[in-house]
Amino acid sequence: MARKIIIDTDPGIDDAMAIFFAFQAPQLEVLGLTTTFGNVSVDLATQNAITLTEIAKVTVPVAKGVAVPSVIAPRPHPDFVHGKDGFGNIDWPAPKGKAVEKSAAQFIVDTVREFPGEVTIIALGPLGNLAEALKLDPEVANLVDEVVLMGGTAIEYGNVSPVAEANIMNDPHAADAVFTASWQVTMIGLDVTHQVLLDNPILERIREANPTEGGFLYDCAQHYINFYSSRFDMDGCYFHDASTIAYVIDPSIFGVELGAVRVACEGIGIGQTIFAPEGMDFPTPHWNDVPMTQVCMEVDSDKLLKLFETTLS
Ligand code: RIB
Ligand code: CA
Repeated sequence: MARKIIIDTDPGIDDAMAIFFAFQAPQLEVLGLTTTFGNVSVDLATQNAITLTEIAKVTVPVAKGVAVPSVIAPRPHPDFVHGKDGFGNIDWPAPKGKAVEKSAAQFIVDTVREFPGEVTIIALGPLGNLAEALKLDPEVANLVDEVVLMGGTAIEYGNVSPVAEANIMNDPHAADAVFTASWQVTMIGLDVTHQVLLDNPILERIREANPTEGGFLYDCAQHYINFYSSRFDMDGCYFHDASTIAYVIDPSIFGVELGAVRVACEGIGIGQTIFAPEGMDFPTPHWNDVPMTQVCMEVDSDKLLKLFETTLS
């Protein structure tokens, strides 16, 4: 039976890759998309999520979520990475569909309660909707199968500060609530996503085999690839969000380490995911009695990209 998932997202070019990957994967059943601010405003994220369902011709509910961080002041949207439209400035027409009435947090709670123990939440943006769901119904932490999130970094440098990754930095308080709740969390951070390079030859083969989703991803990925190749010595882009989908399809692609994760919520280290490996004791109490997070530290990049290409083709 297909694994039931909810995707929480701020689409976003790599979010689009992840969402098409999930829609095409026979191993997964997407119960809905919930949206958050992050790469773009939550209104545009919601519009973009609906657009992706219409391109893929799938009928799944889209529920609009949080517009701002839970405590800190909002940070600017990274137009320079994802474009003003969140899709690499390809000026795609507005979708016809509308979001459902209920909030993202309410959708998460209702769906998890409808399928207790069966739903995996895949989080691809800042974690405000998951933190709101915990506030709305704390029991939800015991009813979710797993939370698999793209975010954070244990030992690899950050991408918005030397120690912080964007999704966590955008709402550090929400992230800390997610990492310290009683659900099983798996962190797909920069430690592994910086080992996976998606390049145009792969995108061209997918476009050849699947002109609809492949054509869209190729077009919007050009802005994303240009961002990376103009700043770093790389001919492609990092495969951030879609790595979560590969994990839920085939966890053996990744190597994990267990430990407690806490998030710095102030100071120059704000947004840092501070990882205390299982069995290491420290005199400072912050990591005591914190549930174990599975932190991905290794990845078989070739196997991951092959799974993406074959699934989308
Ligand atoms: O740091 C990468 C993450 O931030 C990805 O989820 C990307 O879409 C942005 O949200
Ligand atoms: Ca994202």
